[in-house]
Amino acid sequence: MTSIEMNRSNWLRRNRVIPGSTNLFGKRRELHCVDWPSNFTATRGIYIKSNRKWYMDMTMCGVGCSILGYNHKEIVQELKRQLERGSHCTLNSDIEIACAEELLALNTWGSKAKFFRSGGEACAAAVRIARASSGRTKVLVHGYHGWHDWYLSAALSDEAALDKFLLPNIPVDGVPKELKGTIEAIQDLTADNISIAINNSDQDIAALVLEIGRNDMPNEAELKKIRDMCTQRKILLIFDEITSGFRTNHGGMHQSTDIVPDAALYGKTISSGIPFSALIGTDEYFSGIRRTFMSSVYWTESLGPAACIATLRALKRIQPYEYMREIGSYFRERISELCQEYLVSSEFSRIPSILSFSIGGEDSSLVQTYITEKMLSERILLASRFYPTMQHKRGHVDRLVRAIEPCLKDVAAWQRGGNPLNLIGGKIRSTTYNTLWES
Ligand SMILES: Cc1ncc(COP(=O)(O)O)c(C=O)c1O
Repeated sequence: MTSIEMNRSNWLRRNRVIPGSTNLFGKRRELHCVDWPSNFTATRGIYIKSNRKWYMDMTMCGVGCSILGYNHKEIVQELKRQLERGSHCTLNSDIEIACAEELLALNTWGSKAKFFRSGGEACAAAVRIARASSGRTKVLVHGYHGWHDWYLSAALSDEAALDKFLLPNIPVDGVPKELKGTIEAIQDLTADNISIAINNSDQDIAALVLEIGRNDMPNEAELKKIRDMCTQRKILLIFDEITSGFRTNHGGMHQSTDIVPDAALYGKTISSGIPFSALIGTDEYFSGIRRTFMSSVYWTESLGPAACIATLRALKRIQPYEYMREIGSYFRERISELCQEYLVSSEFSRIPSILSFSIGGEDSSLVQTYITEKMLSERILLASRFYPTMQHKRGHVDRLVRAIEPCLKDVAAWQRGGNPLNLIGGKIRSTTYNTLWES
């Protein structure tokens, strides 16, 4: 069996026993190309081993969890130490206290930290607590906040409500219809839009849950107006920093402004790929927690906080933020120059350390499927986002640029007339939830 045949057969094997072939939508091959590698067997730095071959990772790198690079020595050593001490037992882990203190030292506006093991459950808990503390139900959101009922219910009143943050036409069967009207998604984050939503609401708002920056840095003046409005109306302001935290500065992105929330959520970047997420809040925010049951065995295991402490300490010492900005900017500059040279259109988001991009204009799905497929033969993983790590060097970007150049020549030729479909096995990547390739 060739490695491509082995790869396809692994996907099919997955699909037979795991619904949708993976437990994370973002790891489906349908989002990339038909030969996208199915499984990894090892990782190191920015490299991933799959089907006995090492690939250079130029994507979000572990879905945005790996700022230090895969298998960072310090984190691995700390985890081994903690595993030997014990990952879980009858009592609470001592390192939870140190972890809470560390996170609170970074978020001096907060007074308590509560831990979870994934981003989505932390968001669900944050909203439950906000509802319990405020005695109100309705919540406004801007951004992606996971898969739970509370959030997906935004699509019950308006099918397209979450298109911008999640997927077009997100299916929501199984989400109780009774939740309709409990969540409203704000499409563009402006104080005016929020004011309109508050004033038009038939009930008081419990909380506003925001991703303050993903495609762009936060607009501090708007954020200040939003903060003032929330204070006046007694609306709890929650910043979801699960993707934005520790990408542009040491802490939440909001810490590059003067605006403080009532609660903030961290995940992904704080624990280098070990399941862990945290909710930081003020005493007032947490005031309702005794009135709502919330408890889980694995919220108390010790590897998550150990990974978090080790990651925060390494990040504090290394301060990788300027470096990630520089590598992301270099990536954007080199790829966009190359696209210009071949008259292929390209678009990039603004924050270099959480870049998303599109190549090929109206044909971007086809063009990017082709490029991704070709990059695999160069042992490079490339999708439509690049989140630089500390281990990416300019030389890696140069290698990518050299590999992409012949593809852009092909793309420029097709755009003058031609049919590239046969080159990608007739399958174009799709962001539709229901698309699953059966071969
Ligand atoms: C901003 C934000 N919130 C919440 C989540 C959900 O986190 P998880 O996938 O760990 O449940 C994500 C994940 O991508 C995210 O980026």
